[in-house]
Amino acid sequence: MTLFTIDKVRKTFKNGEVEEEILKGINLSLKEGEITALVGASGSGKSTLLTIAAGLQSATDGQVLFEDQNLTTMNTEQIRKLRASKFGFVFQFSHLVPFLTVEEQLLLMLDIAESPLKKHEQQSEVHRLLQLVGMAHRKAAYPAVLSGGEKQRVAIARAIIHQPKVLFADEPTASLDSQRSQEIMQLLSELTTTLNITTLMVTHDEEMLAYADRMIKISDGAVLSNTLY
Ligand SMILES: Nc1ncnc2c1ncn2[C@@H]1O[C@H](COP(=O)(O)OP(=O)(O)OP(=O)(O)O)[C@@H](O)[C@H]1O
Ligand SMILES: [Mg+2]
Repeated sequence: MTLFTIDKVRKTFKNGEVEEEILKGINLSLKEGEITALVGASGSGKSTLLTIAAGLQSATDGQVLFEDQNLTTMNTEQIRKLRASKFGFVFQFSHLVPFLTVEEQLLLMLDIAESPLKKHEQQSEVHRLLQLVGMAHRKAAYPAVLSGGEKQRVAIARAIIHQPKVLFADEPTASLDSQRSQEIMQLLSELTTTLNITTLMVTHDEEMLAYADRMIKISDGAVLSNTLY
């Protein structure tokens, strides 16, 4: 089933006097429960496309449709609500808050997502998620004492604690060595299955494609190929 549709999306930026077209009419859809890898050369427009899909910036033209909602016609507050409740984000660096413990990072996310759970329920939900990513034993730790792979595990738990439908990941393994990258992708692919999350992931790493269900190549702002494995 199609969960997400990007329809003829264009994005232009003003560069001084010149208007540059970064995305040149992109069409793609995300199927429920699939991991889609978005690949392409540096500067081809991958992050721009991901942030437009996630409602972090708007398209110049075209539409972004999620379930029965059209992000293109929603106002900022509606999009913020949608993002907070239905989308999760993982980036190259974990961006954990330095002065919060692992547990507090996740509780904060539940707060932002306006979770209806009571405090003790939130705490047990946080514990469950941390167990899922193998980090429950580090609940009381601050980010500074965690390894890169451990931080990324926490970042993934934080990205999915509010049970989003879609996970947007921009080079989630780029700051990790090969072994840690494999572990993180293994984890992401397991979570995609067990929690029925749909994932759009930008990657530079050929090895990570083994975990994707579909690969979309973009070149110079246009889709070059769309391959289902
Ligand atoms: N806000 C902006 N204003 C002007 N130009 C921008 C803006 N955002 C992105 N661009 C330009 O759009 C192009 C595509 O950028 P984007 O970040 O999407 O590439 P990318 O494929 O993610 O590259 P990388 O693999 O290096 O992360 C680049 O030339 C970039 O300079
Ligand atoms: Mg990028």
